[in-house]
Amino acid sequence: MTTIQITRAHDVLPQEETAALQPLIDEINALKRERNAIVAAHNYMTPDIYHLAADITGDSLALADLALETEADVIVLAGVHFMAETAKLINPEKMVLIPDLEAGCSLADGITGADVRRLKELHPGVPVVSYVNTSAEVKAESDITCTSGNAVAVVESLGVDRVIFTPDQYLGMWVASKTDIEVILWEGSCMVHERFTGDEISDYKRDMGDVAVIAHPECPPDVLAEADYVGSTYGMINWVKTNEPDQVMMITECSMADNVASVTPETSFIRPCNLCPHMKRITLDNIRDSLATLTHQVEIPDDIADRARRAVTRMLEVGRQD
Ligand code: 13P
Ligand code: SF4
Repeated sequence: MTTIQITRAHDVLPQEETAALQPLIDEINALKRERNAIVAAHNYMTPDIYHLAADITGDSLALADLALETEADVIVLAGVHFMAETAKLINPEKMVLIPDLEAGCSLADGITGADVRRLKELHPGVPVVSYVNTSAEVKAESDITCTSGNAVAVVESLGVDRVIFTPDQYLGMWVASKTDIEVILWEGSCMVHERFTGDEISDYKRDMGDVAVIAHPECPPDVLAEADYVGSTYGMINWVKTNEPDQVMMITECSMADNVASVTPETSFIRPCNLCPHMKRITLDNIRDSLATLTHQVEIPDDIADRARRAVTRMLEVGRQD
């Protein structure tokens, strides 16, 4: 059973904690100026990174878009490896750093380029849509990528009646429930979101009374059936800002509620708390070290990068759906 926590804005980054971190933040800021660097942080980063070190925050799609816009020479990706690879694909001339090379993703680890080639042999002529939570090698074998912020729009943009969807089976099932297009699934899953169950969410709802439930589409279908809203981390943040519920249960990685709490001070966040061990490898200390030593630089072989870039660029042309 998942642990449950309740967060309100004043619980996040108390003043004494912020003051204690200031010397480290000053060091990071000085290195950013020296390197002409920015820190781009995913919504799952801990509040110290999200509020004190990040220049840009967002979901996977926003972090991919930013790489197109930034004038920085160096991007430190405070997130996981596939996000850093995506930033590098879009901006090959910039230096992209990931503070810990072990910051992976169970979805990205669950499929290889050879797996995608086999799927294409099994289903000749059927286009492959791959979630951005994949390696550059998998992207290179795909026709287009998607994120949770545009998966349905991407699938519908292809004008076909069948697609192969990799690697997240639950995101694929959610897409299939929103469109008439047949979706051929791969059996990958996110180690954080697959742990939630529909029964535990309905038990929480019974115990907590009036609580809005919003969930990430990487959750299994019985969890999504309990939700008032399903969307990307960006979509979930917007939903809370727009609807200002008294109580909300965010069914996603646990740190996100901390980050949203400060912009919606009247809302209590009920957090069934599952943490992503990969995201949690990124710390203020290794962000500072990454800027100081310019490690670890993300490099992608040209033959893979050219094909992977096509799939990502095609997705960016579709844009965001929620
Ligand atoms: P978003 O694109 O919704 O931010 O999701 C990324 C991710 O890794 C979710 O587990
Ligand atoms: Fe991958 Fe899941 Fe972690 Fe997101 S939360 S990075 S999908 S393992």
